[in-house]
Amino acid sequence: MNASPRSVAVGGERPYSIHIGPGLLGDAGLLTAALRGRHVLLVSDDTVAPLYLQGVRETLQAARPQLKIGQHLIPAGEASKTLHNFGGAIDALAALGATRDACVLALGGGVVGDLAGFAAACWMRGVDCVQLPTTLLAMVDSSVGGKTAVDIPQGKNLVGAFHPPRAVIADTGVLRSLPARELRAGLAEVVKYGCIRDPLFFQWLQAERAALLAGDDAALAQAIARSCEHKAEIVERDPLEKGERALLNLGHTFGHAIETAQGYGAPGNDNLNHGEAVAVGMVLAARLSAALGMADAADTESLRTLLQAYGLPTAIPAGLTPETLLQHMRLDKKNIAGRLRLVLWRGIGKAEVVPDVDEAAVLDVLRGG
Ligand SMILES: NC(=O)c1ccc[n+]([C@@H]2O[C@H](COP(=O)([O-])OP(=O)(O)OC[C@H]3O[C@@H](n4cnc5c(N)ncnc54)[C@H](O)[C@@H]3O)[C@@H](O)[C@H]2O)c1
Repeated sequence: MNASPRSVAVGGERPYSIHIGPGLLGDAGLLTAALRGRHVLLVSDDTVAPLYLQGVRETLQAARPQLKIGQHLIPAGEASKTLHNFGGAIDALAALGATRDACVLALGGGVVGDLAGFAAACWMRGVDCVQLPTTLLAMVDSSVGGKTAVDIPQGKNLVGAFHPPRAVIADTGVLRSLPARELRAGLAEVVKYGCIRDPLFFQWLQAERAALLAGDDAALAQAIARSCEHKAEIVERDPLEKGERALLNLGHTFGHAIETAQGYGAPGNDNLNHGEAVAVGMVLAARLSAALGMADAADTESLRTLLQAYGLPTAIPAGLTPETLLQHMRLDKKNIAGRLRLVLWRGIGKAEVVPDVDEAAVLDVLRGG
């Protein structure tokens, strides 16, 4: 394995490339390749901006002196993925005088990517967006596929749009400043791809644990590229989540319910971030699959062991009642006609969408921890 740049193509009606490699945020050619007009809005958060925003801005301005570059910064964290901050991004586009050939550059994790992407989807009914993901989670998942959204108190990602990026530029060098807890959260989404459709990748993740946790460049680049290949293949066939794409939500209905019940607060001892909530959610989905007779309980144990080896939580945090979680699960976007529709599995690498899951069985699993 080597850590030289690589790219993954996402096909479909609006094809684009995901570029992966160290130092890419300093690559003026790559950064400007997707720009069509003179207006650029850089969206970032107040943790990422002091580290990387000025560099990106200078690279762009040096390569294209005529560019008019604006910026919109939000406080770091899930609590910022709001309609209010979305409105701020729209105001920033208006202040810039952005025309229909403008480009929104999303420099940050999934929170920035989702919010900036949604602003790009709405400004003048849609301008370009280039994703510059800076967390592992954003590199392997949220920057790819065009789902954009903000949260409201009633639920996560309930207001949003499908708006594929024009390019994704994942500079793996920035992962060096990522807190270990956030790296682990991204690894939860990486494990997800193994669980959904790739048992060999699941095994590889068992073998490469030490390298990945230590932030080994080559191992991380391999994990990102493999994850992006999986996501690209699925979203290319099903961009609007009419079928197969729902599989990418393994663990997410449970996970989103946990996040919503916690109120999107800053991650603390009991307050999980998105990747951690997905880790717990995948274990709950595996347990429910076993309870429904779809899968072997031994697979749940393999998953739990792997997630624990990556330092991820596998049980519902204290203080959240099963009834509250079920209530939040009822508002999940995958549900149809008031019936719970969940992604479950038949074992490692064999996820499937199950319509009309019995709520009593779900409650039993939620009660069991
Ligand atoms: N659109 C999609 O398809 C999709 C898929 C998965 C997740 N998501 C969304 O993504 C969000 C979670 O994303 P996330 O885990 O990236 O969270 P995040 O954006 O909140 O980033 C996590 C933390 O890491 C900090 N950070 C980011 N990059 C850094 C760096 N290089 N160095 C130091 N600190 C850095 C951020 O400031 C933040 O405090 C959730 O809102 C989730 O709903 C969307």
